[in-house]
Formats: sequence, C-alpha cells, structure tokens
Amino acid sequence: MNHRFREQSDNQHTLRPSRTPPGLSTKIMALIGKVALVTGAGQGLGKGFSDILLKNGAKVALLDINENIGENTRADFGKGYGEDRVCFFTCDVASVEQLEDAFQKTIERFGRINIMSNNAGILNETNWEKMVAVNLNAVIRGTYLALQHMKKDTGGEGGVIVNTASLAGLGFLLTVPVYTATKHGVVGFTRAVAGASEESGYGVRINALCPGLVKTALLDSTSERHGQFAHLSHLSKEVVKKCGILEVPVVAEGFLQLVMDEGKNGAVMKITHEDAFQKTIERFGRIHIMSNNAGIMDETNWEKMVAINLNAVIQGTYLALQHMKKDTGGEGGVIVNIASMAGLAPFLIFPVYAAAKHAVVGFSRSVADASMMSGYGVRINTLCPTAVSTPLLGAVADEKKNGPFSHLFNLIGDTAKLRKIEVPAVAEGFLQLVTDEDKNGAVMVVKEEGCSYVDFPKEFMLDLKAHIP
Ligand SMILES: NC(=O)c1ccc[n+]([C@@H]2O[C@H](COP(=O)([O-])OP(=O)(O)OC[C@H]3O[C@@H](n4cnc5c(N)ncnc54)[C@H](O)[C@@H]3O)[C@@H](O)[C@H]2O)c1
Repeated sequence: MNHRFREQSDNQHTLRPSRTPPGLSTKIMALIGKVALVTGAGQGLGKGFSDILLKNGAKVALLDINENIGENTRADFGKGYGEDRVCFFTCDVASVEQLEDAFQKTIERFGRINIMSNNAGILNETNWEKMVAVNLNAVIRGTYLALQHMKKDTGGEGGVIVNTASLAGLGFLLTVPVYTATKHGVVGFTRAVAGASEESGYGVRINALCPGLVKTALLDSTSERHGQFAHLSHLSKEVVKKCGILEVPVVAEGFLQLVMDEGKNGAVMKITHEDAFQKTIERFGRIHIMSNNAGIMDETNWEKMVAINLNAVIQGTYLALQHMKKDTGGEGGVIVNIASMAGLAPFLIFPVYAAAKHAVVGFSRSVADASMMSGYGVRINTLCPTAVSTPLLGAVADEKKNGPFSHLFNLIGDTAKLRKIEVPAVAEGFLQLVTDEDKNGAVMVVKEEGCSYVDFPKEFMLDLKAHIP
C-alpha cells in the first residue's frame, strides 16, 4: 500500500519514497564509509534508522539508555553487517556528560561523524519534566554537539542531522499536551537552526521527521503516558482507529530520504497512512476498489518483509473498509489482496514469504466473512498467482535474499528457466475478482492453465455456532 512522504512547507511539495527519488534534481549523499550516531537505537524507530543506514553502507554508533536491548541490537547488526561497522554505547541523552562522552567514543572508534539522528524519546505526561529533558533539551544538545563536530568552518566534513519529531509536532494530541509541546519545540528548533547553519556556511543540513503513529513500544498504553488526562485515553484509541499505525521500515525510508537528499535543509517530512486515501478522495471524490498489492521477497530482511507483505495488507484493508463501508456513509466496494501460490503451499528457501502470504489468505477470508455479516457492502478477495514474470522473482536468484537457507540455493537451478506466467494473465484474474459481485472471501489461483477458485475442504471450516452451547 502507499504511504506519503510529504515535506511540510508553504507549497506542500510532495516527495515519493525512493532511495534516489525520481523527479528530484538534487545531489544524493553517498553513505558508504559515512559515520552515523543514532540515539534511542536499541529498538523501535532508532533501530530501523540504524538498520537502513547500515544497509546503505554507513557505519553506525548506537546509543541507548537500555544496555540490554542496545547490546542485543549491536550483536544482531554486527552479525548481519560486520562487527567493524557497528558499536553500542550506553547513554542517557538527558545527561550532558554521557552524551558528550558518546560523541568522543564514536570519534575514537570511527574517526568522524557525518550523520546524527536525535531520535531517543519518551511519552510520559506524569513525569513531564523528564520528557522535556529527553524529547527537547537532548535534541537541542545533540544538534549542537553534532554541529560542533561536523561544521566545515572549524575543520569538520559537513553532514546531516535528522531530528525525530512527530505528527504531534505539527498538530496536537489533546491527551498528551507536554509531548505535543516537546515535538512542536523540535520542529521549530530544527527549522531555525537549519537556517542558521546554512547562513553560517557550516555545510550541515538539519531536517525534522514527523511520523504519525508508529508500531513501537512507545505506543504501549500505561497510565503514566497520559498523566492527568488518563480519563481521556479512549480518545487516543479513536485516533489509532482513524489514522492507522505505520510500520518502522516505512518511516525508515522517509528518514533515509532526509539523510541522502542534499537539497533538503530545514525540511519537515510528514509520514502518514491516511494521506494516500485522503489524496485519492480529494482527486476522485471516492474509493470503490482497493488492491493491496505491494510486496517484497527477502528472507534475510524478514521483519521488513512481514511488515510490507502482511501488516501493510491488514492496515490497507482496514483503512479501505473505513472509507467504503456502507454503515458509515460509504458506497461499498471491493478489496483484492495479492497473496501467492506460496500462500497455499510450502515454498522452499522462502518460509517467511510463505508465512506472510498464508496469513494474507487467512486474514482476507476471515475479514470477508466479517464484512458480510456486518452489512458493510464490501467484498474482500484474494489472488494467488504462481511465478509471474516480474522483477520480484530476481530474489529467487539472489543468494543475499535467501536468508538462513541460502545453502539450498543451488537446488533451484537456473531461475531464467523457471516456468512463469505473464502479467496480463494475472490482471485478467484480478479483474474477475473485482467485477464478479458474487465473489466474497474467494481465493483465486492463476497458473499456466488459467484461473480457478480454491475449494477449501469442508472439514477445515470453523463453524463458530457449533462451538456455542
Ligand atoms: N511510536 C510512535 O508512534 C512515534 C510517532 C512519532 C514520533 N515518535 C518518536 O520516535 C522516537 C523513537 O520512539 P519509538 O517509537 O521508536 O519508541 P521506543 O520506545 O520503541 O524506542 C525508544 C528508544 O529510546 C530509548 N531511550 C529512552 N530514553 C532514553 C534516554 N534518556 N537516552 C537514550 N535512550 C533513551 C529507549 O530505551 C528505546 O530504545 C521518539 O522521539 C518518539 O517520540 C514515535
């Protein structure tokens, strides 16, 4: 499904999520050999940002207050990207000494700093003074320390700083007023200091990232998070329902864009789910058909694959239902989720791909029944093509994407000789699932012989009524 990466500015320039964004004439920063320092890197967004930087060739110093999770993440990354490219330092960003110390240690280890991600943050309206110290003061201190090390007028190499704000830094969340204040503070500070850096010829770009809700530990609900407004926490649940929750890898793509695009200084990037739907409605007035089709094949980076191939399909289905369902004024419609033959059968070397696709089949069949029983007027079907002639299949021939079973790589043989079907044949099946009003919860297989519907054995049916005494 689509996500929007939008630079918040007077003319609302819209960027597309791509490593070398098409349509942008600006220079792209090469990351190989660059050194990054990421705060709050043990889990959540900071871990995702570190991952994407490492994947693109940078070395990363991970900073986190939590030694256990920081060490575990370092060990994972060390194994995946090489021990010489990653290190971890325990650091409470609210402590001036610890933050300064972490900069020194990073320089001792890697010789320089080119990229700084001030990302560590907490959500605690009860101890709000601490939240201001972590979410705002430490971002300011981290930015000033990074500038000191990077600015060209005193011998630095220049670089880029990305501060993690939030959508709450542009709008407001009434249950968390101090969190909102800290994030507004980060946005205002980042824009001002970016201008100051440019005027001073420092050669350091400074940008802010404003994601909507993201699936991380920060969202776990505790009464501390909402402090004196805990009695309004049901409103937060409404926000989650309305806006949906982003996956970390999606936000990491936006982060990477702010790091690499040399044309961006003082940019504030908003990342939301809702935008793609809103924009479509603004453009065409309504949505009747949703195809959750985006997918990747990468057993090495399997968490990302689950996020895109399964979680985003669930999210896209729920958002589409919200816009289409008749009980709240929608016009009804149809959702077609793209699974695969690997959603019905085991798939050698690609077990997580198969798991995600099996899950798409199970989810789509279940939600199709739920939609029908709720009178939503929205049909939900699944398409399971066999191997199709598209670039995705390149993963089968790419040992790096074969994960823990890459030793079986040679078994596959020459993938060029793999029997494949062509895109138009799959498109025909897709059209059938869209147009046939009798089909809800249907699972269609597309093979060389043509399209057919899966007839699931009756003994595999879950008859809920039979279980209710
Ligand atoms: N999750 C969301 O919905 C969301 C949305 C928008 C913005 N953000 C922002 O993203 C950033 C990362 O949050 P997340 O969602 O990944 O949360 P998270 O809780 O998953 O991760 C935060 C990390 O920061 C570390 N940390 C906390 N206090 C620290 C301190 N004093 N010093 C060093 N490290 C510390 C934690 O140990 C943890 O590893 C935060 O600034 C948050 O405000 C989150």
